[in-house]
Amino acid sequence: MAYDYRTGWAVNASAPPDSLEAKVPYVDNGTARAGPERYYTRDWMEREWERLWTRVWLIAGIVSDVREPGDYFTFDLGRENFLVTRTDGGDIKAFYNVCPHRGNRVVRSDFGSVAQFTCSFHSWQYDLDGCLLRVTDADTVRPEVICHGPRLREVRCETRAGLIFINMDDDAGPLDDFIGLPDGYLENYHLDEMFVIRHSVSEWAANWKTGIDAFYETYHLHAVHPETQTVMNDLNVQYDLYPNGFSRMIVPLAVKSERVADQETVDEGLAFMMQDAGIDPARFHESARDVRAAVQRAKRERAERCGLDYSDLVDGQLSDSWATGIFPNVQIGLHAEGAFLMRFMPHPENPERFFYNTMTLWRPCDDPSYTVPGWMGVPEGTDISGDSRPDIERAGIGEPPNLGLVLDQDSELLPVVQSGIRSRGFAGPLWSEQEQRLRHFHTELDRHLSGEK
Ligand code: FES
Ligand SMILES: [Fe+2]
Repeated sequence: MAYDYRTGWAVNASAPPDSLEAKVPYVDNGTARAGPERYYTRDWMEREWERLWTRVWLIAGIVSDVREPGDYFTFDLGRENFLVTRTDGGDIKAFYNVCPHRGNRVVRSDFGSVAQFTCSFHSWQYDLDGCLLRVTDADTVRPEVICHGPRLREVRCETRAGLIFINMDDDAGPLDDFIGLPDGYLENYHLDEMFVIRHSVSEWAANWKTGIDAFYETYHLHAVHPETQTVMNDLNVQYDLYPNGFSRMIVPLAVKSERVADQETVDEGLAFMMQDAGIDPARFHESARDVRAAVQRAKRERAERCGLDYSDLVDGQLSDSWATGIFPNVQIGLHAEGAFLMRFMPHPENPERFFYNTMTLWRPCDDPSYTVPGWMGVPEGTDISGDSRPDIERAGIGEPPNLGLVLDQDSELLPVVQSGIRSRGFAGPLWSEQEQRLRHFHTELDRHLSGEK
C-alpha cells in the first residue's frame, strides 16, 4: 500500500485507540523550510539562551541520584551550573551552584553526599535548603553586608516519573502543563525504580539541534548504521507528535528491516536478541518474522519468574524501543529493562559544539539470573546492584564517545553534517515525513523564540 503521510505507519494497527500504543492523529506542521542559520549563528544561540533555556523545564537528573538527605549532583547547562540535592525534609531542591560571597562554585564535584555545603574559597557554609549557616570570622564582616540574609539562589524544581526537572523562570507554568505526554506514558516504565549504571558526556563539533535531528529519526540507519538492519525495522516506524514539541517513535526491534529481502533466515543479530531474552536460538525453529513475538513472550515469562512488574507494559514495549522526545533537548529510549536518557546540552559559547550527555538506566530485580542485556552496551564488570554510582566518563572533541559502534558512527558523521549546514550552498533542511519529529521540534522551538510561548 502506498505511504500516506496522514496515516503513516502504525506498529500495532489493532491497538485500542485510547491506548498509549495507538497511533496519534497526524499533526500538520506544514512543509516550510527552516533557515540554516539556526544551526550556527551566535544570534540564534543567544536567543535560545534568552527565550528557551532560561524559561523552560529541563531534565536535571533522576531521583535515584539523590536518595538520601545530603546526596547531591551538579550539572552544566550552557554557561550555568546547578546543584541538586535532597533536603533534610526529604524534598529535592535545586540551586545555582554559586556562592553569594564571591561567586565561587560552592560544589566542585559531579556527585557527593554532605551534611551541609562548605564553599572551597572561604568556607562559608550553607544548609541543604541553601540557607547561610556560618560565615568564617563573622566578626570581621560588618552586619550591613549580610543582614539581607544571603543564601544559595534556588531554581524551581519538580519531579515526574522519577525524573527531576528544573526551571530558571519563576513565572513559568507548572511542569505538568509543560509535559506533552499522556498520563502513564513515562510512569509505566518505572523510571523511578531505575538507577544509573553508566554515564558519559562527550563533546561533539556540531550544534545541539544537529544532534537532536539525527537521533529523532531512523531514516539514516540504512546508510550510517547498516548493521542495525538485521535487528530493527528502521522503515515502518511509528512517528507520533504530542503537544508542546514532545514526540515519539516506536522502533520495532527483534525484527529485520523491511529493506532486507530475506525475511525468513534467523541470523546472528536476531540470535543475539533471543539469547538476551533467555531463548536458546539453537532450539528456535521458526522464521525471522516470529522472533519478535517469541522475545515478547520470553520476557513476559521471565518478568513473572523474577518478580518484575510488567503489567503496565503492552507486548510491543517488551521488544521495541519507544524513543521519546522530551522538549527541548532530550530523547529517552524506553525499554522494559531500562532506559537511555540522552541530553543534548548547549555549549557555553560556541553554537557549533554540544555535549552529548547520556545515562544508561537500569531497573533492578532481586533474581541473580537476571542481568543487563548485551544490547545495553554496559562494560563487563559494571556494578548493577545500585549500591555504587558510576563516575561520568568524559570524551573531548574528536574523541569517540566509546559507547559502541552506532554512537561512534554518529559522532564521526555529525561534524561533517555541521560543516555542510554552514556552507553558503545549503539553504535549510528538506524534511520527509520520516523526519516529522524534527519539524515538530523546530516548530515548537520557533514558537518559543518568536515569543509566542
Ligand atoms: S566565595 Fe564562597 S566563601 Fe568566599
Ligand atoms: Fe545515528
